[in-house]
Amino acid sequence: MSPKTKKERVYIFDTTLRDGEQSPGASMNPEEKIQLAKRLESLGVDIIEAGFPITSDGDFESVKQIAGVIKKSQIAALARANQLDIDRAWEAIAEAAKPMIHVFLSSSDIHLKYQLRKTRNDVLKSACDMVKHAAAYPAKIEFSPMDATRTDRDYLCDIVEAVIDAGATTVNIPDTVGYAIPVEFGELIAYLFDKVKNINKAVISVHCHNDLGLAVANSLAAVQNGARQVECTINGIGERAGNAAMEEIVMALDTRKDFFNYYTDIKTKNIYQTSRLLTQITGIAVQPNKAIVGANAFAHESGIHQDGMIKERTTYEIMKPESVGISESHIILGKHSGRHAINEHYKKMGYNLKEQELNRIYVRFKELADLKKEVFDEDLEAILFEEILRVTDKYKLIYLNIVSGSVAVPTATLQMEIDGVLFQDAGFGVGPVDATFSAIRKITKTDYHLMKYAVNAITGGTDAQGEVTVQLQFNGRSVVGHGADPDVLVASAKAYINALNRLECIKGNTEEIVVE
Ligand code: KIV
Ligand code: ZN
Repeated sequence: MSPKTKKERVYIFDTTLRDGEQSPGASMNPEEKIQLAKRLESLGVDIIEAGFPITSDGDFESVKQIAGVIKKSQIAALARANQLDIDRAWEAIAEAAKPMIHVFLSSSDIHLKYQLRKTRNDVLKSACDMVKHAAAYPAKIEFSPMDATRTDRDYLCDIVEAVIDAGATTVNIPDTVGYAIPVEFGELIAYLFDKVKNINKAVISVHCHNDLGLAVANSLAAVQNGARQVECTINGIGERAGNAAMEEIVMALDTRKDFFNYYTDIKTKNIYQTSRLLTQITGIAVQPNKAIVGANAFAHESGIHQDGMIKERTTYEIMKPESVGISESHIILGKHSGRHAINEHYKKMGYNLKEQELNRIYVRFKELADLKKEVFDEDLEAILFEEILRVTDKYKLIYLNIVSGSVAVPTATLQMEIDGVLFQDAGFGVGPVDATFSAIRKITKTDYHLMKYAVNAITGGTDAQGEVTVQLQFNGRSVVGHGADPDVLVASAKAYINALNRLECIKGNTEEIVVE
């Protein structure tokens, strides 16, 4: 490739709110989805797939609200290839500044035989009819032949050509089950460019799952062979092993622009905060060694590496942490920091607070700074999340008192507010956490199966805030609750109560439509 070649744009289609939400325990409530959508917009995402409106009234409403507030990014709504789904998808995004209807239908023989029980001709016809139906709306139309990588290549070419003729403006090639290998997937995209006559009339997109850990590599191979849109999620969350991670694709294209010669419109400095927001919302932690956004992604442990870094950072560093928004100095000196300093620091982290939000946050900040010597970015995020971003809750913790020790029977006395009314009770258990959860169950008269309980220190030191994750199960679905506090028992109570509040949000919202 000549260095003089003009760089070409790769469009970023983010499906964190749709495919990402299909990660076990990742369900988000409407307010959280709007927060995340706004963040994705400021990150510079070209298309935000906001949801799958036919699946439930809750999903429909979230997509509609997102369509109402997001102006710069296109808003996509997913639909199966039938009129009801498509009409409902359109209804949800009709107010969007830039609407897109995303229609999908399986195309592999294995799906046709066992799932759809239809012939190739039936599927080809439905795909065209439904793309035509969708194209009657004033929206961009994307079509996805699901399980494309296990579809007969020539039949796939026929479908791609036919849907473009029918009005598809983008054709997405999904590796639905994460089966492809990079060279092979690149060849498939090249094959389509070679055989499909009208291919230049549409944007070719790819959507890769990570079952073999190859989603990012497959997406990049597709870009090298002509794809100009990549579907991905923040932190790579998604069905099963997840989707291609946006931050990895974007940073690979950016860091190795000498090799790829493509660009995206992503403001890379906003990557880390977006990743953190998603973790705060879903409670799904990023593994420490995760590329780009993991806690160790820029940590140098070995003496030889540290020595090299001191002499010249490029000896062992291919990207600067600041380029993805990880600031070098995370410390705010607690007690003495004023409101202005806190506000400025939030701005640097990407949050613009309103006057009364700052007032509420400042009270919490002072309380924390009295307990801890140093307050870190992560602490500020936790406060922001609890005070501002979290939904209006049905259940609230008022206070928690624990008696525990090597000779005492662990006992928790708890007061809660439920829909504005105060309730108090005590619970016993094998340990203080067990006793706390037992008291909460008594007060709320609930008894959901506890699938997971995990504690993590947000920052270092024994005065660090404990960040607790609780996963509860309801009717085969699971929700994750999240709580932070310098006292891990209070954090545990907050996390359990947060999970209960999140369960309330999804209760009337349980229709199961499975899409990979
Ligand atoms: O993985 C998949 O095939 C999907 C489609 C709906 C694009 O998510
Ligand atoms: Zn998918």
